[in-house]
Amino acid sequence: ARTAAVIPAAGRGVRLGPGAPKALRALSGTPMLIHAVRAMAASRAVSLVVVVAPPDGAAEVKTLLDAHALPERTDFLVVPGGRSRQESVKLGLDALPAGHDIVLVHDAARPLVPVDTVDAVIEAVRDGAPAVVPALPLADTVKQVEPAGTPGEPEPVVATPERALLRAVQTPQGFDRATLVRAHETVTGEVTDDAGMVEQLGLTVVAVPGHEEAFKVTRPLDLVLAEAVLARRRL
Ligand code: C5P
Repeated sequence: ARTAAVIPAAGRGVRLGPGAPKALRALSGTPMLIHAVRAMAASRAVSLVVVVAPPDGAAEVKTLLDAHALPERTDFLVVPGGRSRQESVKLGLDALPAGHDIVLVHDAARPLVPVDTVDAVIEAVRDGAPAVVPALPLADTVKQVEPAGTPGEPEPVVATPERALLRAVQTPQGFDRATLVRAHETVTGEVTDDAGMVEQLGLTVVAVPGHEEAFKVTRPLDLVLAEAVLARRRL
């Protein structure tokens, strides 16, 4: 089965500070989005990458992709995104041509995911899982709180889930295409990841080992870490 990767890259990246849309900001001179596209194209199984661009930035993103070489075997498409990540992923799915039976959804904000992680996700879908997430154990203990109305106010702690049972999930998340399409047609209400929609269909989602370098670039400190990872790779 052929695999396509959908990359939602339409977010503003407000938490990163002022500037260009997050996906277009440079990491060691190359836009984060290009790193993310290359990370998907690095897998020999991926034959198509669909980039979901900021709604007013599709032409700019197309020009950017044309300017950066991808492997011969990889095609790409650019479509304009929506107001939420969920809507952006749906628009990417709608643009997928027939013949790709496995779909990866990968955040542009995770530019450094290693190819072995991508391949492990694809492999688990091929082995029959309808949805697969790369996941890591947590370093921090996690508390559930009663959120304060005002930022900075103390918040009552209501529970401490057992850390050994928790995982932080990353992308690419991998799906049987028909399952992901059905999830996007059926599930309403906000979710923070695509696999969560498949869980709501009552299907089993499996976790495979994620990777430290698949971290999400969200805050300014993450840019420092990403630059350091790239510098280490060049050694
Ligand atoms: O905001 P967050 O870090 O969760 O965004 C995750 C990914 O979803 C980013 O790659 C971002 O560009 C994308 N996104 C999108 N469309 C939106 C909001 C976020 O494609 N409307």
